[in-house]
Amino acid sequence: MEELAINGGPKAVPYDLPVVENASGRFFGDEELALVTEVMKSGQLNYLSGGGKVARFEQEFAAAYGVSHAVATSSGTASIHAAVIALDLDPGSEVIVAPITDMGTIIPILMQQLIPVFADVDPSTYNVDPASVAEKLTDRTKAVIVVHMFGHPCEMGPIAEFCRARDLYLIEDCCQAFLTKYRDQTCGTIGDIGCFSFQQSKHMTTGDGGMVITNNDALGKRTRLAADKGWPRDGEFRDHLFLAPAYHMTEIQAAVGIAQLGKLQSIVDARRANADKMRSLISRVPGVRPPVEHSWATHTYWKYPIAVDIDSFSVGMQHIADALKAEGIQSWAGYTKVPIYQYDILTVPRTFGKSGWPISGTTGRTYTYGPGLCPNAERALREMIVLPWSERYTDQHLADLSSGLAKVFRHYYKG
Ligand SMILES: Cc1ncc(COP(=O)(O)O)c(C=O)c1O
Repeated sequence: MEELAINGGPKAVPYDLPVVENASGRFFGDEELALVTEVMKSGQLNYLSGGGKVARFEQEFAAAYGVSHAVATSSGTASIHAAVIALDLDPGSEVIVAPITDMGTIIPILMQQLIPVFADVDPSTYNVDPASVAEKLTDRTKAVIVVHMFGHPCEMGPIAEFCRARDLYLIEDCCQAFLTKYRDQTCGTIGDIGCFSFQQSKHMTTGDGGMVITNNDALGKRTRLAADKGWPRDGEFRDHLFLAPAYHMTEIQAAVGIAQLGKLQSIVDARRANADKMRSLISRVPGVRPPVEHSWATHTYWKYPIAVDIDSFSVGMQHIADALKAEGIQSWAGYTKVPIYQYDILTVPRTFGKSGWPISGTTGRTYTYGPGLCPNAERALREMIVLPWSERYTDQHLADLSSGLAKVFRHYYKG
């Protein structure tokens, strides 16, 4: 067996792979440049000055998703916050949410003085298990926020049915899931509201930015107000209807977004094709499982999570990640390492002075967060290693990546 690079052997990937952090892994070109130049020449950088790029981006995004409302925002977190504000829930209402996600899913719940209640995951997809969502229902539950992790859809049929039957709002966090499908429905259009992030690492990017989509007229109107200081901007007199932040997208971001949207389908197709190739390249590596794509799913591979039967290896996950790094392969052992409910924001909680608000104080009920809440999520993160993914990988890149993975995993496999 070839010597591992971490032990002084040759690197499996002795060059830089394309990465989303810079131009090597992105598709930026003349289309973006031309539109950004138009904005700069117009001198209208704020959407309110009438340049029209934000409005056009919203219309084109709405058309791509076949929905009647799209509201551009400044980030994925801002999108989810605007969506949650739009629901207009009383403080202390409970929101059932996923435990494996970015903190950007949870912050909006807390900002609106609501209580996150975590449902456990289906370990095959890392997404909330519909049965666990149902178990978390109480008389305080008012909404569910699902997250389509890494680009694989949640099992939306039973979740949507559950929410409909109990009059719960359903928000889809699609920040990692552009053009992901559950059966023949595109994620973001199945629940009441879909939220997207255009942060640098996402399938399409405007550097930072976000979008909220919905087919519900009332929620669409309220979301627009929720991202714009509650300001209707259509009356004779200035007014602010309710408490809301200013989460505007700029004309420059929208110019980039319009061009990126035109490339989205081909980016997703290439990511899927590369993932299929990788699946067959590593199918015989012992102790690891490439990402699952269920028969009802169209996975769009934001990243490439690999499930590792960690007890079959002689070293821990961080050591495996270090060995991969030495081979020239970037990875994250355990993604967020622990479920999002184990972070200080929830366990301490330290935001509103010493009040403990909103976790304690809003309702009289006690909520505690910490290890043990969602055992499947905790185990799944312990057994997960995540690779960056790219539409720009060539067959050579995939061959080198897979031989580096095979080299490292075979070396430490003890059966
Ligand atoms: C699932 C998920 N939700 C929310 C967010 C927040 O998006 P942003 O970083 O654009 O605020 C992210 C982004 O990292 C994410 O991956």
